[in-house]
Amino acid sequence: AVDIRRLRAETGYISFDPGFANTGSCKSTITYMDGEKGILRYRGIPIEELAEHSSFVETSYLLINGELPTREQLNRTSVQLNDHSLVHEDMQNFYQNFPRASHPMGILSAMVNALRSFYPELLYTDEGFEETFLRLLSKVRTMASMAHKISRGHKVEYPRPDYTYCANFLHMMFNTPVKPYIARKELVKALNVFWILHADHEQNCSTSVVRSVGSARTNIYASLSAGVSALWGALHGGANQAVIQMLTDIHEQGVSVQDVVRRAKDKNDPFRLMGFGHRVYKTYDPRARILKKYVDEVLNRLKLQDPLLDIALELEEVALSDSYFVDYNLYPNVDFYSGILLKAMQIPTNMFTVMFAIGRLPGWIAQWQENLIDPEQRLTRPRQIYIGSNTRPYIPIDERQ
Ligand code: ACO
Repeated sequence: AVDIRRLRAETGYISFDPGFANTGSCKSTITYMDGEKGILRYRGIPIEELAEHSSFVETSYLLINGELPTREQLNRTSVQLNDHSLVHEDMQNFYQNFPRASHPMGILSAMVNALRSFYPELLYTDEGFEETFLRLLSKVRTMASMAHKISRGHKVEYPRPDYTYCANFLHMMFNTPVKPYIARKELVKALNVFWILHADHEQNCSTSVVRSVGSARTNIYASLSAGVSALWGALHGGANQAVIQMLTDIHEQGVSVQDVVRRAKDKNDPFRLMGFGHRVYKTYDPRARILKKYVDEVLNRLKLQDPLLDIALELEEVALSDSYFVDYNLYPNVDFYSGILLKAMQIPTNMFTVMFAIGRLPGWIAQWQENLIDPEQRLTRPRQIYIGSNTRPYIPIDERQ
């Protein structure tokens, strides 16, 4: 790697790198990815092993603290997450006053920012960090389920101290006074896997935003709120919702998979095959591979059928045998199969990106903290290549043409 800072001091050189595709913005010990080989590891542990053996809470601990917890540390973390699971009752007023059709990501971003006002104390000590992180992990999950309940006009369901993190979320989402909801163990495991796979992905768009905002010494709530906004975009976390929309359109409008692939290749058409392609992976996204297997297993075990899975499998087959997708290295990414899994859990489509955001929290938190304590880190402030006018005079308004 070239030390651009030194090069600039010596030569005045500025690199032009739109989207920072080839710029290392930090040194990190959190997540390793190899886009050519399709490798992803958190703190050195392969994603495949974590998906199989870990829980989301344990993986969050690993990402934030750098090591897997002992049994005692894990139990303590679970108790603390329960202790933090309620949100201030006044926060419900926020939800009530958003227009009914508001997108939950817009609401979530505002609510995460608002946490700063409700919990103003921010201790930059080890204990202070830990409390803030646990508060975020626990409360954002509660807030997301509240948003769902309120959007349906239903009474908010409170968390249960005897449930695990994922089972509690499903309980808060789906339990009603008239129809008690007991989460099936297959769905609890699937949710753990879904959130583990989304927990970090090095310097992706939203994480870079979180680091960038944090680099101004902005508080963690505001930094994460910016991350939620970045994730909302259709080219990033919003793609999981867009994939289901695309598959549903194919199903309902009877458009052939071949036609969709043809459209995605047409350079005069802005349409892209959603859930395909990745800035770093130039091969199959390892998270998509795990999800594909899980979707199939979960649907089989729950004896569910989803025509969208058949369409997705066909779409993948047609795209991957097309030279356009092969030549551009466009393979399914994590969003391609995730929506089908969320659908099996009965998560409404407009909550898909919120599900991604809850999963990405530990990564954002770990990266925000790493950025804050790294002595080499500086205020994020890229340069530009100016291509505007040269010096010209100010023309008084009456003389302008
Ligand atoms: N369908 C058709 N063509 C595509 C696709 C696609 N899904 N993705 C990229 N391409 C083409 C582009 O048209 C472009 O072609 P050109 O060079 O002839 O103009 C070329 O591949 C490179 O595309 P870029 O947008 O420059 O590549 P980048 O690395 O910036 O994009 C991205 C990555 C945004 C993910 C892109 O592949 C995409 O838009 N995919 C669809 C949206 C999606 O699934 N997003 C989720 C990403 S994963 C995540 O955030 C969790």
